[in-house]
Amino acid sequence: MRRIISPSMLSADFGNLARDTQMIDRSAAEWIHIDVMDGVFVPNISFGFPVLKAIRAASSKFLDVHLMIVEPERYVARFVEAGAGLVTVHAEAVADLRGVLEIIRSQGVMSGVSIKPATPVSAIVDVLDAADLVLVMSVEPGFGGQSFMPHSLDKVRELRTTGYSGIIEIDGGISTANAALAFDAGCDVLVAGNAVFRADDPEAEIRRMLNV
Ligand code: DX5
Ligand code: ZN
Repeated sequence: MRRIISPSMLSADFGNLARDTQMIDRSAAEWIHIDVMDGVFVPNISFGFPVLKAIRAASSKFLDVHLMIVEPERYVARFVEAGAGLVTVHAEAVADLRGVLEIIRSQGVMSGVSIKPATPVSAIVDVLDAADLVLVMSVEPGFGGQSFMPHSLDKVRELRTTGYSGIIEIDGGISTANAALAFDAGCDVLVAGNAVFRADDPEAEIRRMLNV
């Protein structure tokens, strides 16, 4: 089974973005998670293309882009151009989910679909063949530093019972306290923001999450 940590740059120090990105680049984390928020789909605004390009320039890691925006299909090509290796859209944010996932794949990157805590797995079963990754939210999207919602792991298990063989990622409130549970439930990729960037030794914390 795959075990990947994807530190969320939302929790990085933006006054020292290159330093924090280079630190992750040296670490055992294979991916870097980029949270893009538009203030419409979620009640918060984060950052966009210029910041993504700065992170791309400071790292050779795989960039995992989580779009918490409405009409994501309008921006897929620009995120790919800015360095995304995976573009994930929210099931709740688009009408033609299959269409958006096909647009993402047509750009030569991995396609992802995310579901909020209240959205059931049944909402995406019809498009799973078009999704290289499913991102199960374990907090309400919008902010870092929230508490992990344990029922999200039931959704991960349910997703595996559908026979889905793609990558499952979980995002929100992940730390060494629940990383083992998440991997055991069937997650391949754990996003971690505060747990990494607020740790005294972030690189050691990443290793602890991987070796649980
Ligand atoms: C929340 C974001 C998460 C967030 C995770 O909307 O999608 O990626 O940064 O932060 P932590 O790990 O602190 O909950
Ligand atoms: Zn995220």
